[in-house]
Amino acid sequence: MRGTPTVLSLAAMQAALHVRAATVASEASMTMLGFGGSGAWWPYDLYQFPDDVRTNLSNLLFLDTGMGLTSYRYNIGGGGVNVSNPVRAPETFYVSNGTYDWNADASGRYFLYAAQEIGGDDMEITMFVNSAPAAMTLEHASCSSSFANGTGDWYGGYVADVLEHFLVDEGLSKISYVSPMNEPDNNFGPSPCGQEGMEVTQYQRAEMITGLYNALVDRGLEGEIGILADESSSLSRATSEYADWLPEVIDMVAHLVHHTYDFPTDDSYSSYAADVAERFPEKTTWMSEVCCSLGEADGTGRGWSGGYDPTIANALMWSGMVYQSILVAGEAHYDFWTLVSNGIGCDPLDDPTCTTTANADGWTDGVIYYDDDYATNGNYELYLTKHFWAYKHFGNFVKPGSPLYPITGTDSSLLNSTIVVGTPSGGAYNIISMNPTAEDVQLELVFSPCVAPTTAYRTSAEEDFAELNGTDVVEAGDQGWVLTVSAMSQMTFVFEKASC
Ligand SMILES: *[C@@H]1O[C@H](CO)[C@@H](O)[C@H](O)[C@H]1NC(C)=O
Ligand SMILES: *[C@@H]1O[C@H](CO)[C@@H](O)[C@H](O)[C@H]1NC(C)=O
Ligand SMILES: *[C@@H]1O[C@H](CO)[C@@H](O)[C@H](O)[C@H]1NC(C)=O
Ligand SMILES: *[C@@H]1O[C@H](CO)[C@@H](O)[C@H](O)[C@H]1NC(C)=O
Ligand SMILES: *[C@@H]1O[C@H](CO)[C@@H](O)[C@H](O)[C@H]1NC(C)=O
Ligand SMILES: *[C@@H]1O[C@H](CO)[C@@H](O)[C@H](O)[C@H]1NC(C)=O
Repeated sequence: MRGTPTVLSLAAMQAALHVRAATVASEASMTMLGFGGSGAWWPYDLYQFPDDVRTNLSNLLFLDTGMGLTSYRYNIGGGGVNVSNPVRAPETFYVSNGTYDWNADASGRYFLYAAQEIGGDDMEITMFVNSAPAAMTLEHASCSSSFANGTGDWYGGYVADVLEHFLVDEGLSKISYVSPMNEPDNNFGPSPCGQEGMEVTQYQRAEMITGLYNALVDRGLEGEIGILADESSSLSRATSEYADWLPEVIDMVAHLVHHTYDFPTDDSYSSYAADVAERFPEKTTWMSEVCCSLGEADGTGRGWSGGYDPTIANALMWSGMVYQSILVAGEAHYDFWTLVSNGIGCDPLDDPTCTTTANADGWTDGVIYYDDDYATNGNYELYLTKHFWAYKHFGNFVKPGSPLYPITGTDSSLLNSTIVVGTPSGGAYNIISMNPTAEDVQLELVFSPCVAPTTAYRTSAEEDFAELNGTDVVEAGDQGWVLTVSAMSQMTFVFEKASC
């Protein structure tokens, strides 16, 4: 039947040339929880900074004028026995069984109180542990040592005493979770060690969780504080070890949390999620720590590595990991590792441009950096990388309680890097989208209620969360609204519900 030319309507011709419309589902697939990161180990240094800088830092972390994070992980120190780096050796409250020094860890407590006081109503604080106090561990050290069999009740009582002190006696009402073993697969030895760490084999984890849970019950706190476990370093370890401990204590664990230092492919991340959904259907999983990857904006080259890359390319690489956790694994909560870092790898007083340039000597483990030599050179500047601005899109626009609406029906390359969330109050949609390519990309979205664009925000090589008029980057399409996501940028598009 060749020969008869097909007559396309103007609209169809435009559609063929233009983007294909994608539909925003009217039903949410999940409810988002928090975005945050850890208070380790920078509080030791930052506590020594001038008061106005400390206040500025707290605001940058916890207010919407900054990132507006809604999750903060406080590290309950183990006393740093055999840890050689004082910055990574947080003090312990433990003096002897049942006796505590609540004045210990002034630097950690300062930022813990900041999270409570400056963070919004939806802030949730997790207290996490790298190592028990040395007295309790098998080798009597805060690293290169192990959980000692038979100490579950002792250790659980100690952790519960710390939680009760801060939640009940000190009134830090935002403490919501406890994670009793951070990376139990690693003791970070040999001594002298670079950081705290206590090995807890998979055969010991049920004893530890049971001891802690019973201690929470004794104090009437089991309904207020959820236990997170087991913070395995990688997804592959988590799944291969769950069978050895989790079924015994599944009802005592609130959420299964993991790190992703194996930098999983989409396939392995989704099979992890499917495996958990099948074996432990009542439990949700989330990301509680990752850092330290180089790689390109589109995700190629990801993997554990030294090297400081503060540029938009690496910030988008990391944003791609955030989208992956949400879209591939259906995870509603995301924590990065250390929010603030001295791994800048260069001397900013010597070369002021070095903080915005990649180098091989630093680490991409923070979103805000400071000068390691502050004590001698008096440089108290805070350096924001593109990661700070990229994460601000999530922290500002995906608040706990935000419904996530799937997008279907598009073959857009942005499908794996765009999320649509409703505001918790229901009045608006926020669309966060990143474009890791060198060309602008358009995406046409069809919403079921009538909506209208208001503002938009863009982070790119040149711009840091620049505010735009929505009409500059959104236009009416044939069926919905056409969003232009600029080359090598992350953007947020705000739509309000409107009358039709
Ligand atoms: C710690 O003290 C409690 C009572 O306060 C006691 O039951 C427990 O046996 C003690 N544990 C150790 C290891 O001394
Ligand atoms: C801690 O350090 C001391 C002194 O160097 C050493 O004797 C001990 O073996 C170390 N402990 C561990 C668990 O490595
Ligand atoms: C501790 O208990 C676990 C679980 O029963 C066991 O596999 C392990 O061998 C014990 N470790 C020691 C040092 O006794
Ligand atoms: C806070 O720190 C940021 C980053 O260094 C800086 O741009 C800003 O001016 C500081 N704000 C105040 C109030 O000091
Ligand atoms: C998203 O999918 C595109 C192909 O459509 C691919 O090139 C890109 O690497 C993916 N990005 C991420 C962050 O996975
Ligand atoms: C955005 O631009 C439109 C016209 O294009 C204008 O009506 C509207 O007031 C502008 N909004 C803001 C917030 O400036």
